[in-house]
Amino acid sequence: MMRIGLLGFGTVGKGVYEIIAPREDMTVVRVLCRRELSLPDAAVTHNFDDILQDPTIDTVVEAIGGLHPAYEYVRAAILAGKNVATANKALIATYYDDLIPLAKQQGVLLRCTASVGGGIGWLSELERASRIERIRHVGGIMNGTCNYILDSMTRLGLGYGEALKQAQDLGYAEADPTTDVEGIDTWHKLIVSANIGFHVSLDREGIPAAGISRISAGDVACFTANNLVCKLVSTADLRDGSYSAFVQPTLYPLGQPEAAVPANYNLITLEGDVSGRQSFFGQGAGRYPTAYNMVQDCVDFTVGKGFYRGYGPKVAVDNSVKLRYYVRGERDAWLDAVTEHHWGAAAVTKAVPVFEMHRWLKNHPQAFIAAFAE
Ligand code: HSE
Repeated sequence: MMRIGLLGFGTVGKGVYEIIAPREDMTVVRVLCRRELSLPDAAVTHNFDDILQDPTIDTVVEAIGGLHPAYEYVRAAILAGKNVATANKALIATYYDDLIPLAKQQGVLLRCTASVGGGIGWLSELERASRIERIRHVGGIMNGTCNYILDSMTRLGLGYGEALKQAQDLGYAEADPTTDVEGIDTWHKLIVSANIGFHVSLDREGIPAAGISRISAGDVACFTANNLVCKLVSTADLRDGSYSAFVQPTLYPLGQPEAAVPANYNLITLEGDVSGRQSFFGQGAGRYPTAYNMVQDCVDFTVGKGFYRGYGPKVAVDNSVKLRYYVRGERDAWLDAVTEHHWGAAAVTKAVPVFEMHRWLKNHPQAFIAAFAE
């Protein structure tokens, strides 16, 4: 019987507790929770040491989110020889080069399937694909909050603020929703996916992220008039031995699978040199989808499955790949030089290197950009 210390009893932690309660192969023994709480069959504590120092607890399920104290707790649990399941993409993306080798060295199992794609078995299938083929591409719609906002603005004509509020009320958004809407959550998920798919550790500093917080109803109307749908999308490619990786709003023609993704759903794709394209669709956020994959990780522990395949070397990112962009923002000499034509007040550029577009955006933080999908 697996004996679990559950860290956190918020949206996801409560879901984990409820899914495990009727099971006979595992039990939640203690729950770390800041609030006053009483549970019928688990002790509640405010002190992590009660879990760390309980020798009968063999597995820690981390559902508190954020970097600190999640990092300190997870590291201590690994050092204490406890297996760890986490949904924390910020944690895994940030401390990849620390936690993955540490778990291996300590001989404990660490999994993070719920960290990307919520309830979709994306990371476990990505691992299966990488057992027999070279992965050339990972990416897609990875943030339920952003998809909910963009879909509500496009299909229902909701305002940005109203749609964000609904996503928060439904429990999709991070504690600080700027993490969602500025693309940071997607950036974390891209790093975790690319590292696992490509068997490398990508240089995070070289991966830019543009978010959706400056999109306006006018932008959305312009896209609709041109039969385009805007989605927040991550992309990582391996081409001719070099890696590109970036996060940005992207415009898909109606009829493309990405254009049709509704509400809080995700659509995440891999391309391998044997299987070709495989896309994974499902609920990317919310209590039960996320909790489902955390419990799946615990079940995987019972058969000895730890972190996904190959922990690989650090590699640089080269974003010289060129894309066309929709750009609404202050004009300057660079933007004028790359503009092909205008849609109202916005510029439509010729194909420009991704790193140049993101460098320009850094200097024009009030602008909104969206790439045309290749
Ligand atoms: N805030 C995240 C999202 C939660 O909206 O996708 C799931 O990772």
